[in-house]
Amino acid sequence: MENFVFANPTKLIFGKGQLDQLKKEVPSYGKKVLLVYGGGSIKRSGLYEDVLKQLEEIQATVFELPGVEPNPRLSTVHKGVQICKEEGIDFLLAVGGGSVIDCTKLIAAGAKYEGDAWDIVTRKATANEALPFGTVLTLAATGSEMNAGSVITNWETKEKHGWGSPVTFPKFSILDPVNTFTVPRDQTVYGIVDMMSHVFEHYFHQAENTDFQDRMCEGLLLTVMETAPKLLEDLENYEHRATILYCGTMALNGMLSMGYRGDWATHNIEHAVSAVYDIPHGGGLAILFPNWMKHNIKVKPERFKKLAVRVFGVNPEGKTDEEAGLEGIEKLREFWNSIGAPSRLADYDIDDSQLDVMADKAMVNGEFGNFTKLNREDVLKIYKMSL
Ligand code: NZQ
Ligand code: ZN
Repeated sequence: MENFVFANPTKLIFGKGQLDQLKKEVPSYGKKVLLVYGGGSIKRSGLYEDVLKQLEEIQATVFELPGVEPNPRLSTVHKGVQICKEEGIDFLLAVGGGSVIDCTKLIAAGAKYEGDAWDIVTRKATANEALPFGTVLTLAATGSEMNAGSVITNWETKEKHGWGSPVTFPKFSILDPVNTFTVPRDQTVYGIVDMMSHVFEHYFHQAENTDFQDRMCEGLLLTVMETAPKLLEDLENYEHRATILYCGTMALNGMLSMGYRGDWATHNIEHAVSAVYDIPHGGGLAILFPNWMKHNIKVKPERFKKLAVRVFGVNPEGKTDEEAGLEGIEKLREFWNSIGAPSRLADYDIDDSQLDVMADKAMVNGEFGNFTKLNREDVLKIYKMSL
C-alpha cells in the first residue's frame, strides 16, 4: 500500500424525501442562487417545481441556467460564469446528472477567476477558489456528486478533458433514488457501465498489499452485476435504484482507491472518442474497456485472473493466469451485452476515418496510464480492436 491522505468534505444526504433538506442546507451559503439543469428531464419529472418550492420557502432569489448538454460544453459554462459575475451569485445548485454537476463545478471555479474558465481545464490556471455549490442528483453514474472532478468539452476545438481541485467538492449532495426512476433504460445501462468502469480503473494498479481495497472493489462489482438485471426489468423499483445509486457514488468518491493509483487510461481514450463523436460516456466505455483489458493482459496476468475468478466466477483449474483472465474479460463482455450496452464503435456509426484524430487527442499530454503506460500505437490498436 502506498501512503495516502483521504479527505472528502461532501455531505451526502441519501434517501426518500430528502429533498426537504435543501431548505436547511442552502441558507448558510447565501440568498442568490443559480439553479443549473439540463435539457428538461427535471421539468418532465416534476423535480424542478419541487426544488423551486424549497428555494421559495427560504426566500432565495433564483437565477436559472437551463440546457446543460450531456457532455457539457464550455460555451454553457461561459453563460453560467457570466450570470455569476453579473448578478453576484452566492450559491450554485446543480439538479441533474454528471454533466450538470460537472458544468456547475467549472462555473463555480470560473466565477472566481478573471480569465477564461478553459484555462482551468487545460491547467494554464489553477482553481484556488470556487463559489459554493450543492447538487440534487438524478442519475446514477459518474460519482461527480461526491468528488471534485469535472469533465468539460470544448466543442469548437473538439477537446474533452477532465480537471479537478480540492475546492470543487460539492458542499452537499441530495440523493433520492426516486429522482432516478425516470432515467430511461439506455441511460441506466450507461450509468451501470460507467460505475463498473470506475472500479476497473481502480482495480488495475501496481501497488502491493491492497487486499481490503480489492475486496471492496469486487464487492461493488458483484453487487452492481446482481442488481442491474433486476433493475432493468423494473425501472421504478426503489430498492434496486437505491443500490445502484449508492454504488455509483461509492465507485468514485475516493473510498475504494486509498493507497494506490488506479490506471485511468480507458477514460482518457473514451474522452477522445466522445470529444469527436459526442457519444454517451458509458457507451464508449462499454466498447473500449474489454479491449484495453485484452491489450494489457500480459502486463500482470495474475491481476486479470483474480478479477475473473472472484467477480466473473471463472474456474481457474488447468488454465494459465492469462487464459483465466481472458475468460473473465469475455464474461464481462457477455454481461454488458446482456444488459444492452454497445460493443463496437460501429454501433455509433464510427468507422476508421478519425482514428488518428482521436489518438492525437488522447496523446495530448504524452503517454498515459498508471497500470501500464500507453503510447500512440497502443491507443490506435485499442481503437482498431473496437471498430
Ligand atoms: O439533460 P436532461 O434533460 O436532464 O437529460 C439527461 C441527459 O439527456 C438524462 N437524465 C438525467 N437524469 C434523468 C435523465 N432523464 C430522465 N430522468 C432523469 N432522472 O440523461 C442524459 C445523460 O445525462 P448526463 O448527465 O450527461 O449523464 P452522466 O451522469 O452519465 O454524465 C456524463 C458526463 O459525466 C462525465 C462524462 O464524461 C460525461 O461528460 N464524467 C464525469 C466524471 C466525474 N465528474 O467524476 C467521471 C466520469 O468518468 C465521466 O467522465
Ligand atoms: Zn466514467
